[in-house]
Amino acid sequence: MPDLFTYGVASGDPLPDRVLLWTHVSVPDGVPVPVEWCVARNPLLTDVVARGTVVATAEHDHTVHVDPSGLAPATTYYFAFEARGVASALGRTRTLPTGLVDRARFAVTSCAKFNAGYFNAYDRIADRADQGDVDFLLHLGDYIYGAANTPPAGQTPGAEIGRPFDPLDACVTLDDYRTRYRQYAADPALRRLRASLPTIAGLDDQELADGAWSGGADDHDEAVHGPWSARLAAAFRAREEWLPVRRPDPSDPSRVFRAIPLGDLADIVLTDARSRRDQPLPGAAMLDQGRSALGHQQRAWLLDAFSSSTAAWRVWANPSVLSTTYRADVPEPLRTALLELKLTAPDGSQCDPDRWDGFAPERDAILRHLEEGVVADVVVLSGDIHVGLAAEVHRDPFTAGTAEPLAVEMATASVTSQNLDDKLGYAYGGSAAAQAQLLEALPHAQWADFDGHGYLLVDVDHDRLRGEWWFVDDVLTPSGGEFCANAYEVERGLARLLPAMTTPG
Ligand SMILES: [Fe+2]
Repeated sequence: MPDLFTYGVASGDPLPDRVLLWTHVSVPDGVPVPVEWCVARNPLLTDVVARGTVVATAEHDHTVHVDPSGLAPATTYYFAFEARGVASALGRTRTLPTGLVDRARFAVTSCAKFNAGYFNAYDRIADRADQGDVDFLLHLGDYIYGAANTPPAGQTPGAEIGRPFDPLDACVTLDDYRTRYRQYAADPALRRLRASLPTIAGLDDQELADGAWSGGADDHDEAVHGPWSARLAAAFRAREEWLPVRRPDPSDPSRVFRAIPLGDLADIVLTDARSRRDQPLPGAAMLDQGRSALGHQQRAWLLDAFSSSTAAWRVWANPSVLSTTYRADVPEPLRTALLELKLTAPDGSQCDPDRWDGFAPERDAILRHLEEGVVADVVVLSGDIHVGLAAEVHRDPFTAGTAEPLAVEMATASVTSQNLDDKLGYAYGGSAAAQAQLLEALPHAQWADFDGHGYLLVDVDHDRLRGEWWFVDDVLTPSGGEFCANAYEVERGLARLLPAMTTPG
């Protein structure tokens, strides 16, 4: 009998009483297919707590989303689907805790470029999920890359490893985006990961188009690609079909920003710094007070989320790095490194307008809100820049002196997207001199790694939050090794990064 569930199963957006379950039914004729589902307390699916039937239709690309409620908090569940007498793979998921919560452990990822490498980091996170070591995956975006297989001039081609994008051209239509998500969902490591633990998915630009903003993208020409609004709607629709995501606002298919409470332990606030922002602009325009990376609705929500949170920690899931990565007149090899990593403007003469550096007034308004509101114990988790970075956050890090930081920031390296050793063609560790210069140039940066790929492992309790940067040994082949490259802890009440590189227990 043919496997109807070619893309496996997934779960996401867990809450204390529910978690979204996902699958896809592969049928050649496009007809509606009734799909039975069940959730149980045991892997044999005999201790069933919920079951039902939904219909997979061509309208939603035969993807299936089920949102069973009435589940118990902080509990592991197993689930599966069945259609036409064929059973899906078994999925495992976990609800969020509520009330008094002692501890949480989760993985953080961003930037999984299919044609740049194998998703070995996802396999390692799935290993941890199999051991009950992590509660969920927080994906900060660039879950897919909608880009063309052959990058435009000026962008680095990847190594040829036999994983070309499908389709080869950049995604523009709904069918393009669906095809790209399908390719990702079929990847063995990602398929395994999705069946292993719930995903909380954010958004960066590559799910939409390179350099996306509210009115367009670097990689969008209306004369060639048609209206941006149509492309944006297609990208959001395919994302909603192929990811296990629940709309934070049922009336708004483009809303990503949302809060994820972990009882009294932490409030995760997840933002979208791409789809609602003003156009990134170089030069003096970056200092225009009226420009926004978040848009007014999301910004008001974020400030209120920080102010009203009563949990021990406020964890800002922020797709694109918050801290500045630019300083004028840096020496070689740092200058080349920053250019290659796109941590400055393309000519090196100013900061990169594409990230928070390009929206400095709004960034300062948010940090001023933390400062004036005495909003403490804020940890910013970031991605997008493809390199590991640990930094202390000041309104102006260059004049901060001995002032206490307002927050700390931990940026995860990419799952696969090229960073400095890939671009300059040397082995891991070859960027040591440039990394040391970065720490000299940027007083807020405590640690940087320009070469590793992997994930950030966050372990948080009421006393401290610990971040460990786990790197895989290779991305150009399927490979099973990983190592902890560094670790920092931050204690409640003190926004400082404390070196904590010990053998993890
Ligand atoms: Fe990326």
